[in-house]
Amino acid sequence: MSCLLDVAYLAEAPEHDPCITAIADEAFGPGRFVRAAERVREMAPHDRRLSFVALLEGTVVGSVRLTPILIGTRPCLMLGPLAVRPQFKGKGIGRRLMAMAETAALLAGEKVIMLVGDRAYYMPLGYRPLPVGSVVMPGPVDQTRILGLPLVENALDGVTGSVRARDVSQHG
Ligand SMILES: CC(C)(COP(=O)(O)OP(=O)(O)OC[C@H]1O[C@@H](n2cnc3c(N)ncnc32)[C@H](O)[C@@H]1OP(=O)(O)O)[C@@H](O)C(=O)NCCC(=O)NCCS
Repeated sequence: MSCLLDVAYLAEAPEHDPCITAIADEAFGPGRFVRAAERVREMAPHDRRLSFVALLEGTVVGSVRLTPILIGTRPCLMLGPLAVRPQFKGKGIGRRLMAMAETAALLAGEKVIMLVGDRAYYMPLGYRPLPVGSVVMPGPVDQTRILGLPLVENALDGVTGSVRARDVSQHG
């Protein structure tokens, strides 16, 4: 799949916040605030160095965020929201944002990315289902949608426990 649009990819900055919120509202609707992943994001700030936007003519058309968390005692990153404006879907923007987030996480020395999402989209990118019941989210969640990406060999082994905020001073 190729992207014929002249899309620029940048690390996220504060001025992108209103557009990112609008895109997430559009993608997930007001119901997103009851989602367990959103509960986590309320507890823990995302890391802008590991979060990216896709810009078309200066306007944000897609975004992905990574948030430092703990699962049990294990430092991990939670990915999301990932969203692309409807009229720009299917042009490779989502996958490019996912690749940028993964590379940045690896370079930052992170070992695991987890998310709550569709297996059909994320498993081709290397994400694997985590054992049902192994990760306790701060709210109701379909356990079969909890997926993890090991950034180093065997990094998913023993990833179990409650999701909590990670002190940013422990990150980087
Ligand atoms: C999911 C999303 C971010 C993908 O962004 P995108 O830029 O359209 O993705 P890409 O162009 O990189 O990839 C598109 C491919 O993913 C597939 N795809 C998109 N959403 C999918 C889904 N939910 N399940 C399975 N495959 C999916 C498309 O069919 C396409 O497949 P192809 O490459 O074989 O043609 C975008 O569709 C979106 O914003 N959706 C609404 C919000 C959302 O669902 N976010 C993810 C949370 S689970």
